[in-house]
Amino acid sequence: MAMIKAAVFASGTGSNFDAIVKASEAGGIPCDIQLLVCDRKDAVVITKAEQKNIDTFVFSPKEFDGKDAYERQILLECRERGIEWVFLAGYMRLIGPVLLEPFKNRIINIHPSLLPAFPGKDAIGQAFEKQVKVTGVTIHYIDDGMDTGPIIEQEAIRITAKDTKETLQQKIQAVEHSLYPKVIQSLLVEEEVH
Ligand code: GRF
Repeated sequence: MAMIKAAVFASGTGSNFDAIVKASEAGGIPCDIQLLVCDRKDAVVITKAEQKNIDTFVFSPKEFDGKDAYERQILLECRERGIEWVFLAGYMRLIGPVLLEPFKNRIINIHPSLLPAFPGKDAIGQAFEKQVKVTGVTIHYIDDGMDTGPIIEQEAIRITAKDTKETLQQKIQAVEHSLYPKVIQSLLVEEEVH
């Protein structure tokens, strides 16, 4: 199967970035992660990309004249490398039309709740505070809303009486790290077949 060129957009610690890169290195997913896009100059994920010799485009939104301007630069960085798919993994910004149009149905995101419950920031904290008994992980296509795009896959996680916010976060991350590569794999294989 042909290798698909992909970028990961992430602004945090990059544990999902790591999981995706490891799966691609191990041949678990037919794609080559060619670029990390990051909007925080101090993000831990940058070091992870550098260790793997993956190109990075690190920018500070306030240095640009608005979202369209920095997204045009991101698009350029993607085009230079022939990027075909974008995987969001803790990129804390809404994607605008400059990227949505050229990457229609090819930008996906992972979110730590069972959407449409608990969209937006601190989904794990929101679920914990509401004392729900089940939360989980969602992978969805990106549209112009906040965590509103069509759902691709979900996995539920039970919150027990013993859980703290920290243990819940660990359970969610463990699911994320196996679910994201699996979903990427099936989307890319599906695309190859059609
Ligand atoms: C993940 O929980 C993901 O669901 C959310 O942001 C977090 C990123 O974590 N969108 P990491 O940087 O991959 O560790």
